[in-house]
Amino acid sequence: MSAGKYRYVNESALGMHGSRKGLRGEILSFRKDPYIYAEKECVDHYDDGLIVIKHGRIEAVGEFSKVAKNYPELETEEYKDSVILPGFVDCHLHYVQSPMIGSPGDTLLNWLNRYTFPTEAKFKDKRFAEETARMFFRQLLMNGTTTANIFATTFPESVDAIFEESERYNALTICGKVLQDRNLPDNLKDRSAEDSILESECLLKKWHGRGRQLYAVAPRFAPTSSRLQLKLAGELFQKYIDKGVYMHTHLDEAENEIEWVKELYPEAKDYTDVYARNGLVGKRSIFAHCCIMEEREWSVLHDAGSGVVHCPSSNLFLGDGQFKFWEAKKLSRPCKTGIGTDIGGGTNFSVFRQLGDAYKVAMLKDRYLSPVRSLYLATRGGADVLGLADKIGSIVPGHDADLVVVDLRPTDFLEWRLQFAEDIFEKLFVMQTIGAQNAIKATYIAGEKVFSR
Ligand code: GUN
Ligand code: ZN
Repeated sequence: MSAGKYRYVNESALGMHGSRKGLRGEILSFRKDPYIYAEKECVDHYDDGLIVIKHGRIEAVGEFSKVAKNYPELETEEYKDSVILPGFVDCHLHYVQSPMIGSPGDTLLNWLNRYTFPTEAKFKDKRFAEETARMFFRQLLMNGTTTANIFATTFPESVDAIFEESERYNALTICGKVLQDRNLPDNLKDRSAEDSILESECLLKKWHGRGRQLYAVAPRFAPTSSRLQLKLAGELFQKYIDKGVYMHTHLDEAENEIEWVKELYPEAKDYTDVYARNGLVGKRSIFAHCCIMEEREWSVLHDAGSGVVHCPSSNLFLGDGQFKFWEAKKLSRPCKTGIGTDIGGGTNFSVFRQLGDAYKVAMLKDRYLSPVRSLYLATRGGADVLGLADKIGSIVPGHDADLVVVDLRPTDFLEWRLQFAEDIFEKLFVMQTIGAQNAIKATYIAGEKVFSR
């Protein structure tokens, strides 16, 4: 099996591809949320479909026999024994932890101190940041991830490096400088709360809305920000929230983390309240983990329209709490929910493989995460968390053509095994469960093929 090919997309290439092109094959996508509506109502599926792409967007989609009639001259690429899905959305991960993924740690806080902080301190060096960003982005593409909500670290260099790499592929990426001014080593700490906010605003002005890049105000988590830094972060977020800027942080991941937050903020009702009091809970707030939540906290996030991110492989690896999707999606107050690999707490870059772990985490509590509901989290559910469900996450006209082609015969064994699966959801479920390697045949960003195998 080849390692795959990657291709940067530059502006002139985009211009040249202004003409239409088609992708033919089996197509699967979501139109609605299967945690709210009957699963059948939520799915669009074409056995032999056609996607028509123009200027990076989807112009038409449907059964090949119907759509092709309207495009007699269409240059079309055909994918057999595959299914075309919306590109995967990774709602939470740390590119700066790629160099230490797979490092052991007995608790979250020890793991941060022992491996994470020393690694992140290296990102003051722009060259190191660039090298990591390049390697990291390739992992995203070969795993079919087309949009990611990424943590960088303290240094503006680390933010520039990842946005520059994203821009080369024309990918829709969310990132921001990490705000952290206490309880971590001096070589990773912000100089002062005020400086950290000035640097963030400067990066925000440089990157937010440049091409497809979007900015997030990103306090690491409550314990590593001073009271002043959280307050100023909230002010910055509120200043730009209507311009589409995000707030991205961690919440309620592990017991000892929550205890620590209680000690640091005894006046707060709970961990969520620490963020809410500082203006950090809003419609563009994204909270990673949310494993050990009080009922009140779910209601606060629902009322605010915030998104939550299930990071199952990370939670299993670090021995944190366990995310409860039935609480997150409770019908009386559902929260937007997506999937995160949480690299380097997570143990692989595949959003698809996270679904296999999400299933097992739910089974530990006797809850069944169906194949339809699970795939939704990786695509449209993730787009919803990011407030982008009108642009990405589904294969419908008007959406950006961010797509992944999943190989339904990546190995001899799977070719044989999948013949016994009843339908496409069962096939995908088998693949996510056994953690199929090399299952991504091609990845498209804004209509351009950026990875193929
Ligand atoms: N909480 C604060 N920082 C981190 C981090 O880097 N990884 C994880 N998993 N949790 C965190
Ligand atoms: Zn994280």
